[in-house]
This record gives sequence, C-alpha cells and structure tokens, in this order.
Amino acid sequence: MSQAFKHTPPATQPLTSKTNVADPALWESYSYFPIFEQMRQEDPVHYCAESTYGPYWSVTRYEDIMAVDTNHHVYSSDAHLGGIIIDDGIQNDPENDFKAVNFIAMDKPKHDEQRKSVNGITNPNNLQHFGEIIRKRTSNLLDSLPVGEEFDWVSTVSIELTTQMLATMFDFPFEDRHKLTRWSDVSTAEPGSGIVETQQQRIDELMEMAAYFSDLQQSRKDKPDNIDLLTMMTHSPAMANMPPEEFLGNLSLLIVGGNDTTRNSMTGGVFGFSLFPEQWDKMVADPTLIDNAVAEIIRWQTPLAHMRRTALEDAILGGKQIRKGDKVVMWYASGNRDTSIFDDPDKIIIDRKNARRHLSFGFGIHRCMGNRIGELQLRILWEEVLKRFSRIEVTGEPELTNSNFVKGYTSLPVKLHAL
Ligand code: HEM
Repeated sequence: MSQAFKHTPPATQPLTSKTNVADPALWESYSYFPIFEQMRQEDPVHYCAESTYGPYWSVTRYEDIMAVDTNHHVYSSDAHLGGIIIDDGIQNDPENDFKAVNFIAMDKPKHDEQRKSVNGITNPNNLQHFGEIIRKRTSNLLDSLPVGEEFDWVSTVSIELTTQMLATMFDFPFEDRHKLTRWSDVSTAEPGSGIVETQQQRIDELMEMAAYFSDLQQSRKDKPDNIDLLTMMTHSPAMANMPPEEFLGNLSLLIVGGNDTTRNSMTGGVFGFSLFPEQWDKMVADPTLIDNAVAEIIRWQTPLAHMRRTALEDAILGGKQIRKGDKVVMWYASGNRDTSIFDDPDKIIIDRKNARRHLSFGFGIHRCMGNRIGELQLRILWEEVLKRFSRIEVTGEPELTNSNFVKGYTSLPVKLHAL
C-alpha cells in the first residue's frame, strides 16, 4: 500500500453522476485520491445524484472550496439543515430525540456569540501557559518510551498526548483524563459501530459526561481567572446559561475538535517521514524548519477530509447551478492536493514555501478555533523528539480510520532509535 501513499495512481473508471467519492469502501482502502484528481481535472464541482448520503455536490478544487467556506451567507452550517458532515447521521435521524447542539453547526449571530466566549483560550498568554505544561508532559511521555522495541505510536503517543492536552485545556482532573478520550469517541459514535452498541448507551454515557462537567463547573464559579475552557464557558454571558443540549453539545465540540485532528497529525508526521526519509534528514539538519514542517504535515495529512454545508439559496459555483437546499461537500483532502496551488502535492516537502496556505483548518467564520494550540503541540512534540531520538522507524503498515470525515490512523507500529 505504501506506494499509493507516495504517489496518486491514475483513476480507473470514467466519472459519472453515480461516482460517489464518499463511499466508505474507498476510504477504507485509501483509493479516493485518484478520483479527486480526476474530478479536479474533469469535473471539479461534481454532482453525485445518488448515494447512501443522498445526492450531494463534491467541491474538489482549492479556489472553489475557499469560495464556499468564506460565504456563510449562502452556505449554511446549521445543524437543523444537516450540519457539517456529509452524513446527516444520528443528529438528524427522526428516531433520535436527543440532539446535542454546538457552535460549529450554527450560523450567525449565535455562532459568533458562543465562539467569542471560548476563543480567548488561544490568546498569547494562554498559549505561553499551555506551552510550558505541554513541554513537560511531552518530555515525560517521550522519556518513558522503549528504545529499540516495537510499539504502537497511535495509542502510546498520539492518543496519550492529545488526551493530556484535553485535560490541560479543561483543567480537568488529570487522573480521570481517559474519560475524555472515551467521551470524545462516544460523542461521534454511531450505535453498533463497536464504540457503543445502542443509542441509549450513547445517551447514558454523554449524560454521565454532562453530570461530571456540571460538578466540575461548581468549582469554577468563584475562579473566573482560571485559564481553561470550562471557566470561560461558566463566566461568559453567551454560554453561562445554555440549555442542557447546548452545554453537552459544546463540550463535545471542544473535546472532539482538538482530539482526533491533532492525534492524526502526530501519527501522520511519523508515517510521512517514513515515506519521505530525506525530509526527516532535512529537519534533523535544520530544526528551525519545524514550524513549517508542522504546517506541511497538516496539509499532507488533512486530518478532517471534508466539511459540509447546505445551500440557503440558489448559487453558481464553478459554473454549476447549485439549488437552495443542496448538500455541498468541501473536500479539503482534495483541495490540499490541488496542483494549481501546491507543486508535487503528494509529497511532504518540509520547506515548501506555501505550506501554510493549506485548507486543513478551513477558512471563514468557522476556521478552526484551536489551530494554534494544535500547532503548538505538534511543534513541541517534534522539538522534543529531535532531542532524544535519531529516527522513528515505521515497522509495518498503518491501520487507517474507517471514515470519510476523520482521516487518520488507528495504529502504526514503530521502533525508536537512540541518538
Ligand atoms: C491539526 C489540528 C486541527 C485541525 C486539522 C482542525 C481542523 C478544523 C476544521 C477543518 C474546522 C472547521 C473549519 C471550517 O468549517 O471552516 C475546525 C473547527 C474547529 N476546531 Fe479545529 N482542528 C484542529 C485542532 C483543534 C484544536 C486543538 C481545538 C481545540 C480547542 C480545535 C477546536 C475547534 C473548534 C471549537 C472548531 C469550531 C470553530 C467554529 O465553528 O467557529 N481544533 N477545526
């Protein structure tokens, strides 16, 4: 499989209105890039007339994705219209009477009010505060790893570090931090997916999360200056008295938002360097490239493959007639490989001049709120790795996350080499 990761092979079928690039089978087998390349060349705003997700538009070129993402007047994120992923899913299932709501799936003005309540988490002083904690925790974890023995990078490093970061952002009891990983998984799980068996089990676990946070919130009421997301929610007018489904929904957003994304960028870097080892050598020779390498890995990995919108009115996009109510999917995974913006886009090039132009954080009013926290964690990880190890050898094939939304890894076997 590794060759396919290094270079997109040619597409094998002609494009038709039945071509469904969101088909889970393509994502499981890492076969979507040839179709995206074909779409960008032949039909960049492609209509799939029939799929398990219903009909939808695929937006595959960089500039068209930007046009959708920055036009919230026409392209809505509202959960009641379908929200932000291709699958209307349990959120819009009429059988599901438990609908958590959060600001990534809201339009103006409510979106802006709620986002403003927690956005300050990434101000420079807070980043400095978090940076010190992250460095300490990252160093401790790296020091505990076995050298010369095979282990799984995903569970041992990526999941553990992002869980620790979640605990840091919420100032959550450290010894209970694994609850956060579980709640993150449960928040996005479909019943029967292996994570939860039934919708009732999912609801019960999310209620447990709400109760836990509600208790924790009591301890923040008289500490308005504490630096954490829960304190910010507790003391902001727009979030202090939310109905339970919004309290729960926004907690889930803040837990999920930074979890899989940063986790898969951590693993993507290790895997990417194994495919392009000369880039690792370049970083070892010049660690000042780490900042740009982080942006380039996030471009190459694209941890969230897409965001979806629903058209609020008729519009023309890339010469195509979009109708009010249409489902429009921005494929960041495709835009980040658009050769009109990025030369040789399948390759990781850590000193790529325009790496930071990537689409992985989105654009417009929903642009990732935690981008600087994610980048900070990744920069510190690579700085601390370089102080300790000469190489991270990938010793087997990665296992991929089975999703057309979260683009990542469930395991990656590695062996560390000492300096
Ligand atoms: C490499 C890491 C990350 C990636 C690739 C990523 C990606 C994204 C993307 C694609 C969006 C939607 C953008 C759009 O619709 O235009 C988003 C939104 C968001 N992200 Fe991130 N994210 C990352 C890290 C984080 C972290 C660490 C946090 C922690 C707080 C976070 C919190 C959020 C929130 C709250 C939103 C919703 C923003 C809004 O609707 O206004 N993300 N992220």
